Amino acid sequence: MLAQLGLLLAWARRDVPDSVRTPLLAGHLQRFSVLAAISVIALLATGTFSALTEVPAWKALVDTSYGRVLIAKLALIGLLLPVAALNSVVLRPRALRKVASSGREALERLRRWLTRAVWLEAALAVGVLAIVGVLTQYPTARVTVESQEFVRESTQVVVGYESTSQAGDLGVNISVSPNTVGANSYQVYLFPQPGQPLADVLQVRLRFKSPDPTLGPSEVIAEEVNPNYFKASGAFFASTGDWEMQVFVRRAGVDDVSTFFRIPVQAGGAASGAGRDRFALPLVTGSWDLVAALGLLAGAAIVSVPAQQWPRIRVRAARWLRMTGITFGVIGLGLLLGVHKHVGLTPEQAREGNPVAATEASVTRGRELYDQNCTQCHGLTGRGDGPLAKTLAVPPVDFRLHVPYHTDLFFFSVITRGFGNIMPGFASQISEEDSWNLINFLRAEHSPEGQTK
Ligand code: HEC
Repeated sequence: MLAQLGLLLAWARRDVPDSVRTPLLAGHLQRFSVLAAISVIALLATGTFSALTEVPAWKALVDTSYGRVLIAKLALIGLLLPVAALNSVVLRPRALRKVASSGREALERLRRWLTRAVWLEAALAVGVLAIVGVLTQYPTARVTVESQEFVRESTQVVVGYESTSQAGDLGVNISVSPNTVGANSYQVYLFPQPGQPLADVLQVRLRFKSPDPTLGPSEVIAEEVNPNYFKASGAFFASTGDWEMQVFVRRAGVDDVSTFFRIPVQAGGAASGAGRDRFALPLVTGSWDLVAALGLLAGAAIVSVPAQQWPRIRVRAARWLRMTGITFGVIGLGLLLGVHKHVGLTPEQAREGNPVAATEASVTRGRELYDQNCTQCHGLTGRGDGPLAKTLAVPPVDFRLHVPYHTDLFFFSVITRGFGNIMPGFASQISEEDSWNLINFLRAEHSPEGQTK
């Protein structure tokens, strides 16, 4: 867009008569700046999100190549934004005002400035793109930090696989740890024939072939630790199953030799990150709340831009956009400040009207009653997954989600009188006092303040 704008400005100077030029440029600049503002907001929002997923800590910004390139990119953007702001906040409005009062010479001077600033902005933008190109060549800071941690851990990890095989005249011993999907370290020991010296080893190469025959092999050259011990690391095992690992040894003055190992690769443990919650996967910093908040705020900013600036926008549309912007902004700010975490009842409000103190004895009695009377539907842990749950027209809710939002009095009526025709009342089987004990148990078990487990 910037390059196109620069070309347009240059062309307008040469080939367009004055009377047409100014209104043409004015309209164009106005539309351009709306799109540009939206793009910048989207860029900043997605960049922030990407940093949250790829840069685990401030320190990683300086410690990893990825982080350093990212700093360079941010610095360029830091130059770009003021130039862009100069264009859209100072030069452009001034040019538009000049169109109205049409001082020919001043306008011409402004237009020249604007052209220069636009080209500068375009050049900086190209620089940013170039840096992004460099950035994609590096493993992200998260990958780097994780693999550093992995290497540290793997020195203590038990070896997952070890085997010895003969490659020509050489004995080859390999060990793979932890031998799970994801990053592993591979160690290769070479043994010459008894009584023979080990010839000068030039290279040890490992080739990995997936159990899936449609996938091509990948290779790595192992690093020499000492003349008969070589080491490599990396995430070559992409799936479980029997992988084939071929070890090639090249020595000075002798033919190359190689040998195969069939390695049964296991599913990843905690070390390879497979145990992580899939939903939480992309984020290494911050929380989904933060992402949602930033997304909403960016959305608010984006819909507000055309409401203010789009030429000839209809009044109703502008009002609608502004309302949407405000709504997004308020919800986003609320999320950012964590308002939703305080929604719910205070402990005093929740317990109002409950005559039985939540002593340990009361909670224990409640747990007993719960186990006897309620688990068949509500489940042992209160998640609504008891054996009878599937047979009910309305499945029981997860207590962890509901208990914090209802009062003890509400629960008392549910337990004694039942819940519509979906849950029976227990008034005839459970005494009043025991109902309160049950409630004390539910509260202790399922509200965030009173977790007993
Ligand atoms: C026959 C199955 C069944 C049994 C037994 C049962 N419930 Fe329920 N319960 C339900 C269903 C279904 C609901 C309605 C859906 C919901 O709100 O969880 C419900 C609702 C509730 C609620 C309201 C939850 C809310 O916030 O909306 C409470 C509290 C409750 N049950 C407690 C108990 C207790 C305590 C016992 C044991 C004394 C018990 N239930 C036994 C099926 C059962």
